[in-house]
Amino acid sequence: MKIKVINGPNINMIGIREPQIYGNKTYKDLVEFIQKTADDLGVTVDFFQSNSEGDIVTEIQSCYQTFDAIVINPAAYTHTSVAILDALKSVNIPTVEVHLSDVTTREDFRQISFVRLYAEKTIMGLGFEGYAKALEYLVNK
Ligand code: DQA
Repeated sequence: MKIKVINGPNINMIGIREPQIYGNKTYKDLVEFIQKTADDLGVTVDFFQSNSEGDIVTEIQSCYQTFDAIVINPAAYTHTSVAILDALKSVNIPTVEVHLSDVTTREDFRQISFVRLYAEKTIMGLGFEGYAKALEYLVNK
């Protein structure tokens, strides 16, 4: 099984950005954590991080007929991007939405998620563990 793990803007800044929300570990730590989880589960993961909405759309399109599933933390684009929602609908690949923080307890503008309209499952507020839960869900389903 091949899973694409996509992280949106500023996820590369974890460890620096708002540590009271996102913790002290870095994006490199996150990639290592997900890679180890994938190895334990016996699945292949490929990572993509971008601050650019269009690049994320292009990456999702490139998953068509190449990846079996997508794990995506669209970060701020969660709350704004119809283009990312449409890209996911276009490729029609099973997708889990992940957020490090529990967005339900945060600002009003974070309460809408366009990606959630397509995602099979949303996992939030579990930090790195949310990505592990996403992989486990996709492997076991
Ligand atoms: C986030 C939550 C978003 O609201 C925010 O814009 C992010 C990160 C999370 O992982 O908790 O950048 O997706």
